[in-house]
Amino acid sequence: MEKDYKHVPVLHRPALDALRIRTGGVYIDGTYGRGGHSRGMLERLGEDGRLMLTDRDPQAVADARARFGADGRVTIRQVNFAELGAWVNELGLGGKIDGLLLDIGVSSPQLDDAGRGFSFMADGPLDMRMDPGSGEPVSAWLARADEADIARVIREYGEERFARRIARAIVRARQESTIGRTAELAAIVGAAVPSAQASSIHPATRTFQALRIFINDELGALRQVLEDGIDFLAPGGRFVVISFHSLEDRLVKRAFAAAARPPAASRRIPVAVDFKPRLKLVGGLVRADEEEQAENPRARSARMRVAEKIGAVAA
Ligand SMILES: C[S@@+](CC[C@H](N)C(=O)[O-])C[C@H]1O[C@@H](n2cnc3c(N)ncnc32)[C@H](O)[C@@H]1O
Repeated sequence: MEKDYKHVPVLHRPALDALRIRTGGVYIDGTYGRGGHSRGMLERLGEDGRLMLTDRDPQAVADARARFGADGRVTIRQVNFAELGAWVNELGLGGKIDGLLLDIGVSSPQLDDAGRGFSFMADGPLDMRMDPGSGEPVSAWLARADEADIARVIREYGEERFARRIARAIVRARQESTIGRTAELAAIVGAAVPSAQASSIHPATRTFQALRIFINDELGALRQVLEDGIDFLAPGGRFVVISFHSLEDRLVKRAFAAAARPPAASRRIPVAVDFKPRLKLVGGLVRADEEEQAENPRARSARMRVAEKIGAVAA
């Protein structure tokens, strides 16, 4: 039996308020985790409301089934949110979703379970897959990837200035033996980064983050759901995304803006353009307040953006 892991949801009330939940509406929590936000959504839904719960992580989905499987308003499936559209259409709910919430990134239970391989703080197999049933573990990729590709991933997704040195050290180390454990990788990275550059964060933080984002294709999944999500929302439906990384927030900001406003060039040149907005931006960037940041360090990097599907709101 899994330990009773908890995940303190970030920006909980702002996210629920942004979803503007109608008691009889249909909503999706696309990143269930341990259901912090789902619970709040269910509290605001009435008896005729409906909630679709999903996560790509089978442990999260098992938790959802144990906690909410008996609630008649709830439908649960293990889905990568990049493929949410297919599930929505299968249920005949295309264009009928009143709110989609994504609280992306990694959950506390994933980080805390050394066996999942996300953490450099506790030794475990170097895996990092959110869905261990698909793709390959980080250890397998690091065993075969080119040095240049390893450096690119660490630089782009980790914004790590010592990416080339780290990649070189990884390739040197794997000639001795496969890098199969998180502690081994953390030690290799620690030794590759100049000690004069020591900062308040562990030297392996950026490398682990980069490899996690890469191996789970997190940005690819986000791009896909940002595109599809607009289609399956109902007019007036809300799209709420909480992210923890500037690369992710940039994708959300751009996708929402592109659906809400004509391209910059056509704004400067006053010619008739065939642009039909599909979204309306609701407020700007939302950050956790000081109190939440003090209570929950994860909240410090959280960024929330909200958009609304254009069209008449259902009565
Ligand atoms: C920050 S946690 C969510 C926490 C949750 N809101 C709660 O209150 O417990 C992020 C979750 O998103 C899931 N996730 C990340 N990328 C995903 C994707 N592409 N599809 C589905 N779930 C994903 C992770 O497995 C993780 O459980």
